[in-house]
Amino acid sequence: MQSDATEKAISMRMQLHHRIIRFLVLLVAAAVLLGSSSDTLVDEMTTQERIDKNPWWPTKLSSSADKYVGSAACAECHSDIAKSQAQSEMAQSLMPASQSEYLTAEYGKTLTVDGFNYHIEKTVQGPKFTLEAGSSPVSKTLAWAFGSGKISQVYMTPENDIYNESHFSYFDSIHGFDGTPAQPVLRVAGQDESHESELRKAIGRRVEMHEVRRCFACHAANVPAQGPINNIIAGVTCETCHGPGANHTAAMRANLPQGIALIMNPANLRPVDQVDFCGSCHATSMDVQMAGSFGLPSIRFPAYRLQNSACWRNDARIQCTACHDPHKPLVRGTAAYDEKCLACHVSGPGVKPDAVHPGRACSVATKDCASCHMPKYEFPDVHHKFTDHDIRIVRQGAPIPG
Ligand code: HEC
Ligand code: HEC
Ligand code: HEC
Ligand code: HEC
Ligand code: HEC
Ligand code: HEC
Ligand code: HEC
Repeated sequence: MQSDATEKAISMRMQLHHRIIRFLVLLVAAAVLLGSSSDTLVDEMTTQERIDKNPWWPTKLSSSADKYVGSAACAECHSDIAKSQAQSEMAQSLMPASQSEYLTAEYGKTLTVDGFNYHIEKTVQGPKFTLEAGSSPVSKTLAWAFGSGKISQVYMTPENDIYNESHFSYFDSIHGFDGTPAQPVLRVAGQDESHESELRKAIGRRVEMHEVRRCFACHAANVPAQGPINNIIAGVTCETCHGPGANHTAAMRANLPQGIALIMNPANLRPVDQVDFCGSCHATSMDVQMAGSFGLPSIRFPAYRLQNSACWRNDARIQCTACHDPHKPLVRGTAAYDEKCLACHVSGPGVKPDAVHPGRACSVATKDCASCHMPKYEFPDVHHKFTDHDIRIVRQGAPIPG
């Protein structure tokens, strides 16, 4: 997302902003103590702060003391949740490349991206690409597929102390392959020296271990804090969100009711904390502000956008799980979300808000609320439209707020 140098520069600037924000937070906290009702800003945190403060928080790297059992063990007792969660995009967000339906469909065929040709073959070690490069073609066996492919999918392969991220990615909206987001668009030059460097980039991007560890931490469970990345549990599955589950599993198998306390249940979090819980991977509002990602690019980060909306408050009806069940695939189609809006908004002419329904009625329509108030914006590099969670009145020609 950011190069290390810009990240540092931004982080220095944001540290200052952060101190100011912290000061404001203290002021608000003081105001709350003095009887004001505004508590929405208090306790919004960066993911690193959450990890430091809590025994378990998603994306925390594992140490040898942590004991994971895998989703099949959870399925013994939570079979309905296990069945539906396995169908979700999140559960499928990482798999061995040999299990990618998109890549295996290309066996024996040639992909062309940015004018470079990649011949895809099946081998016992996994799918292999051979990049045509004059007299010395380059081959690589692909290890991991990141992304379910419902939006896109890219391939990562360990090579000594780095990983190689493929230059080609699969994109759902074009049902085919194109250049990987955040990698440069290449041009097939003549046989001059620039050709060598373009060819290098066509093999893929070299990703350092510290960055790769972060990729796995958001796409898998049991990702070790140190050393090679082995024995992970691929995909965002039970223990990626709930934390290592061996103690809970053992206690429940022994019928010890105390075992219930040995696993994190995010249902017990306050809304402001639960939004940060999802934000551990989708970015919290503080993460986004620290990274200095505002306006259009920030639409990829729903927590930040949602918390900028006039609808936002520390109320369970507007936390992520009010609209999305983390144990199920994303519900597509904006009309399905009407009941979520109408949990707070009154509807129909002349109906006035009250204590239970603090949201006004719409003067324009009574259904398919999100189609107008949560517009979608195209991100050309991922060939996909993302939903703006800054729920608002959209005026034609007005700039994107936030
Ligand atoms: C031997 C049966 C068994 C196994 C295996 C098991 N659980 Fe549970 N779990 C239970 C029971 C019983 C409860 C309490 C009733 C409920 O919430 O379903 C529970 C509760 C929970 C809760 C809610 C805790 C709370 O504070 O309310 C979570 C979260 C959970 N389990 C996750 C998991 C995960 C993740 C795994 C796999 C790592 C797992 N469970 C494995 C039986 C089991
Ligand atoms: C451990 C990291 C992690 C956590 C925590 C997490 N997510 Fe996700 N989420 C992902 C990843 C990775 C994907 C991408 C899935 C894919 O490859 O298509 C995703 C995708 C999604 C999608 C589907 C997007 C689409 O367009 O297909 C929804 C909805 C979603 N997450 C909601 C949530 C909610 C709600 C929470 C909190 C309860 C949450 N997520 C917590 C990592 C996470
Ligand atoms: C901070 C957590 C985090 C990190 C680090 C991370 N991802 Fe993801 N990734 C996500 C989430 C969340 C989504 C779903 C985003 C969405 O739909 O808006 C996602 C989605 C994806 C997708 C599907 C396409 C898409 O845009 O939804 C691919 C491919 C992907 N990630 C690859 C990677 C790779 C490769 C790395 C490391 C270079 C990486 N991710 C690092 C959280 C993360
Ligand atoms: C993306 C994160 C995520 C993943 C993956 C995930 N959960 Fe959950 N789980 C949650 C959240 C958030 C809640 C609280 C939901 C709420 O607010 O009602 C929860 C609640 C639960 C509960 C308690 C239910 C209750 O009504 O209190 C159980 C049991 C549970 N999860 C089991 C599982 C199992 C088993 C898996 C794997 C098959 C799993 N979860 C995967 C985020 C996740
Ligand atoms: C008031 C309802 C509501 C809340 C609250 C909400 N969402 Fe959404 N979300 C939606 C709607 C509507 C869509 C678009 C569904 C579709 O594709 O038609 C969506 C889509 C998404 C997607 C798919 C990618 C995209 O941009 O289209 C992700 C990921 C997501 N939401 C994550 C989150 C997270 C994380 C939170 C909490 C910070 C959250 N949502 C809170 C209504 C909500
Ligand atoms: C937790 C309760 C809650 C939920 C859920 C909620 N809202 Fe709101 N919303 C409010 C409150 C309170 C206001 C401020 C008072 C008002 O303008 O009605 C508001 C304001 C708005 C506004 C006016 C914004 C402005 O800038 O003046 C729009 C439009 C809106 N909501 C649409 C929606 C839509 C669409 C959904 C569902 C996707 C939704 N709301 C879900 C509580 C909520
Ligand atoms: C066809 C697009 C559209 C749909 C569908 C829609 N709205 Fe609106 N809504 C608007 C526009 C435009 C305005 C601004 C009206 C004005 O100020 O002229 C508005 C205004 C509002 C307001 C501010 C109060 C007002 O009327 O000025 C709220 C709250 C709101 N809408 C909520 C909702 C909810 C809840 C739903 C679903 C039940 C919904 N809207 C469906 C377009 C839409």
